[in-house]
Amino acid sequence: MQIRRVKTGIPGMDDLLYGGIPERNVVLLSGGPGTGKTIFSQQYIYYGLTRGEPGVYVALEEHPVQVRRNMATFGWDVRKYEREGLFAIVDAFSGGIGEAAKREKYVVSSVDDFGEFIDVVKQALRETGASRVVVDSVSTLYITKPSVARGVLMNLKRVLAGLGATSLLVSQVSVTERGFGGPGVEHAVDGIIRLDLDEINGELFRSLIIWKMRGTKHDMRRHPFEITDKGIMVYPDKVIRFSGNRVIT
Ligand SMILES: Nc1ncnc2c1ncn2[C@@H]1O[C@H](COP(=O)(O)OP(=O)(O)O)[C@@H](O)[C@H]1O
Ligand SMILES: [Mg+2]
Repeated sequence: MQIRRVKTGIPGMDDLLYGGIPERNVVLLSGGPGTGKTIFSQQYIYYGLTRGEPGVYVALEEHPVQVRRNMATFGWDVRKYEREGLFAIVDAFSGGIGEAAKREKYVVSSVDDFGEFIDVVKQALRETGASRVVVDSVSTLYITKPSVARGVLMNLKRVLAGLGATSLLVSQVSVTERGFGGPGVEHAVDGIIRLDLDEINGELFRSLIIWKMRGTKHDMRRHPFEITDKGIMVYPDKVIRFSGNRVIT
């Protein structure tokens, strides 16, 4: 049977995924600080919007005003889609505090109240008819209580996939950690894309690898990518290998 896929729209990335992310998959986008997780997920959402696929961006780390501004620096102006009801930002950052927050339509007053969080996310998904969802980042939901990480992800997965969305859940790991950001999280999700930044001889190298993707074959090698003022670009024909303190591409 031919499975339906959702294209990331990130140049080079869909080649590694044999066409795209299988529909309704919940994918962990995992990496350290500055590895490009936020840009990757925003590019994914924006590409969908340009193709008539509604999206929801759940902002837990930055104010929605900042999210719109960041996206605009890459030429991704989402305001038009918000006005048309095809895109929504869930403000799970400000707690509803401040003048700017009063203008937001979807506000979570306390992220410690997971029930409220889920209700607001569901409402945004229903009202936009979102087929793409980003949560940036899920780590914020369980950073103080790692033991609930897996349960939180299972719940989110039920809601997001249940409403028909294909989702990227941003997961933060520390600079040195080789894991995916919490106990058991890697088992709760359908896919894992890992972004890395490695310092070799005083120079930083960006690379990514698809660790897991339910429902499809996928590339198994580490590929270099770049961030430019147009967003992320992956090099599917280049492979990056680290050998001691050397980089072999
Ligand atoms: N216009 C740009 N051109 C090149 N690189 C950029 C640009 N904007 C941001 N970056 C790079 O992207 C990084 C931030 O990416 P981001 O997605 O916010 O990381 P993360 O969410 O993983 O912490 C910056 O540290 C910088 O290296
Ligand atoms: Mg980020």
